[in-house]
Amino acid sequence: MGKETKVICFANNKGGSGKSTTCANVGYGMAALGKRVLLVDGDMQLNLSLSFFTEDKVLAMAQSEKNLYYAIKNQKDLADYIVPTEYEGLDLVPSSTLMSSIEYELFTRWQREFILKKLLAGIKESGTYDYILIDAPPTLGGWVMNILCASDRLIIPVEASPWGLFGLANMFEFLNTVKEMSPQLSLLGIAVTKVDERKNYVKQTIETLREAGEDVHVFSSYIRVDSAIEWSQDNSKPVAAYKKSSRSAKEYMELTKEVMEQCQ
Ligand SMILES: Nc1ncnc2c1ncn2[C@@H]1O[C@H](COP(=O)(O)OP(=O)(O)OP(=O)(O)O)[C@@H](O)[C@H]1O
Ligand SMILES: [Mg+2]
Repeated sequence: MGKETKVICFANNKGGSGKSTTCANVGYGMAALGKRVLLVDGDMQLNLSLSFFTEDKVLAMAQSEKNLYYAIKNQKDLADYIVPTEYEGLDLVPSSTLMSSIEYELFTRWQREFILKKLLAGIKESGTYDYILIDAPPTLGGWVMNILCASDRLIIPVEASPWGLFGLANMFEFLNTVKEMSPQLSLLGIAVTKVDERKNYVKQTIETLREAGEDVHVFSSYIRVDSAIEWSQDNSKPVAAYKKSSRSAKEYMELTKEVMEQCQ
């Protein structure tokens, strides 16, 4: 029997807060540390898939029937939709632009909040992976509810900017609603991203977050703005595979270790 698989999702209704970047780079970091990791791209923007594959390949997968949308539509175990990345121990379930109509797909289903959880059950039980990481889109509808209900832990990436915190109350409220349906879910922590040290928002952001509640953990490793992130994405690679010596590669490795410790 395998070890217990932890399912962690990255969600925040605020767009551009670093969800996909953090999911991709923490996933890569875990695999680099010898863990077996499955990434699930839950967003029609395909950003998590684009972190590992070229645009042509991602579009081909999105247009094929081997992606998350068809797994849900056909109610098939996600194990049949896994694609290996070029990195050892790191696999992906790609997304599709058809995910734009996923709310409609879910609408008439029995126990519609738990569809993704059911499709992941086989993989989870098999113990093939140490971690399953799910990237959520910037919404708070039935699909993100599915993502949260399928998860054991939630990481909220927050951009260190005045508007980064705006709307976070909605996210907490949503989390509490989901917890009523899915009590195993807990907030692992808030990851502060896109920190620009020339501006002084980071201190203020972290203080405001810490005041949000005693039980809200803010990861002490935060991620600064670094052009290597964008270059790495342009090259379809996680930042540590693109430029290991970059500041953000080191910061993401620190964050990865903290996430793994916090998960214990
Ligand atoms: N540390 C960083 N330094 C520089 N740019 C960054 C950094 N982190 C993320 N970005 C850039 O910020 C943008 C938003 O990041 P990302 O796509 O990860 O956010 P997201 O929350 O997934 O967005 P969405 O809500 O659209 O899904 C991207 O263009 C990404 O390249
Ligand atoms: Mg994203």
